[in-house]
Amino acid sequence: MHPPVPLLVPRENSEGCEINGYEIPAKTKIIINAWAIGRDPKYWNEPEKFVPERFLDTKVDYNLKDSNFKFIPFGAGRRICPGITFATPVLELLISNLLYHFDWKLSNGMKPKELDVEESFGATMRRKNDLYVVPFKYSP
Ligand code: HEM
Repeated sequence: MHPPVPLLVPRENSEGCEINGYEIPAKTKIIINAWAIGRDPKYWNEPEKFVPERFLDTKVDYNLKDSNFKFIPFGAGRRICPGITFATPVLELLISNLLYHFDWKLSNGMKPKELDVEESFGATMRRKNDLYVVPFKYSP
């Protein structure tokens, strides 16, 4: 839902071609909107809702092993992010450690429903407002 790089690195086609009936002349600059693809209701049921369970038992694979282009946080095609094998385990390790060792609460009595996930737009995208959370040590 919140890709850090919403518009992928621009491409240019070396040869003219036709896609879905549209003639694309050679040397056309193409910008892929990964943000819009991830929120397209044609592919996603209630795309704006935070439902991480939607990825359980699904064939959607962000590594694009199955050429499924509806979820492309690391880009797609030949020019995919070369850092994917580095970024994925680092993120998994970080997030699982934070979730395993701590319980988390929103600060100042804020309710989960009040949490705002607004983004500020630019070449890269980040939260518009900082997120304040309080960790409580968890011992199993
Ligand atoms: C969660 C972390 C990351 C995300 C979501 C991410 C996402 C992306 C995306 C969307 C692109 C554009 C790909 C395209 O145009 O199709 C990209 C390009 C790139 N990424 Fe990442 N990336 C991440 C981490 C990393 C890391 C850790 C490295 C290096 C260690 C890295 C190195 C690069 C480079 C060099 C490119 C440019 C590739 C090119 O233009 O050919 N990325 N990344």
